Amino acid sequence: MRILSGLQPSGRLHIGNYFGMMEAALRLQHEGEAFYFIADYHSLTSIHDAKALRQNVRDLAIDFLACGLDPTKCVFFRQSDVPEVAELSWILSTVTPMGLLERCHSYKDKTARGIAASHGLFAYPVLMAADILLYDSDIVPVGKDQKQHVEVTRDIAIKMNEAFGEGLLKLPQPRIREETAVVPGLDGQKMSKSYDNTIQLFEELPALKKKIMGIKTDSTPVESPKPTEGSALLELYKLFPAKPGNKFDYEWARIMFENGGIGYGEFKKRLLDLVTDYFAPFRSRRAEIVADPAYVDRVLAEGAEKARAVARPVLQRVRSAVGLG
Ligand code: ADP
Ligand code: TRP
Repeated sequence: MRILSGLQPSGRLHIGNYFGMMEAALRLQHEGEAFYFIADYHSLTSIHDAKALRQNVRDLAIDFLACGLDPTKCVFFRQSDVPEVAELSWILSTVTPMGLLERCHSYKDKTARGIAASHGLFAYPVLMAADILLYDSDIVPVGKDQKQHVEVTRDIAIKMNEAFGEGLLKLPQPRIREETAVVPGLDGQKMSKSYDNTIQLFEELPALKKKIMGIKTDSTPVESPKPTEGSALLELYKLFPAKPGNKFDYEWARIMFENGGIGYGEFKKRLLDLVTDYFAPFRSRRAEIVADPAYVDRVLAEGAEKARAVARPVLQRVRSAVGLG
């Protein structure tokens, strides 16, 4: 079973990315042959600053490793280190109906938020399809907002197979964790880098505290029961598993919301403890990785080599099926 997923290096990792996608991806690295990559070609659709892009790629590589990505168990690489994907993307684009891309939400959402409406942004799902199909992937762990793109990938693969031969490309399946399909942000909307409502994994404590204390709540008085429906604060508690020695978990919070008697400020302080405890081991691992920059370079170089060894024959298969080689 081959598992593949990518993350764009377009800003710091947040807990929506972690619980929505990364945690499941990290678990899957022990269950099959996992390919995880940093989607830097994709990020060019929103970042036109070479220095910033390079820095983001490096930060994301370190974050991934700090979160538990094991480069001896999976292939970890930078998308642009396997330029074969750009060629496959072009070939796929020639069978991709315009209507399929016109239906994609992400283009509309992003242009509505002010990202320039470039051809790259419009064609981005085709590049994502190439990412997935180039490695004959079976399973693609992603958050709910990426589900449509995996469906588009399947449609493109079907078109290719109809045109150039059954079995040419493998049809992937999305893998979405329903419990954490959409992690809410500080303002109650979907947590997203573009909404400036994130809780970052590796935020400094004072900033983290400020953000958590700023989670949007209503004006229910301390002594009254609090509405559990639609509370971003309570939803965020859900992400952190109960631990022996800490009774202030989701169950506690839910019951105390219903009973009343505790103010939002205290719920927020307890949530801050949950967040810092949970990510403490990741933080210390991150500090070790940062201290050894050559390690990150080595991991990405080895990953690129392994990824390319898989990608080349697949691209060759496609080139030959379409009449290019
Ligand atoms: P962002 O919206 O912050 O730009 P990305 O689009 O880069 O995040 O998403 C990277 C991965 O994290 C994707 O698989 C996406 O589905 C997942 N993800 C992002 N935000 C959330 C969220 N709030 N809840 C669940 N999953 C998320
Ligand atoms: N489009 C994804 C995102 O914004 C990142 C991505 C690019 C991806 N290629 C992929 C995810 C292939 C899964 C598989 O989050």
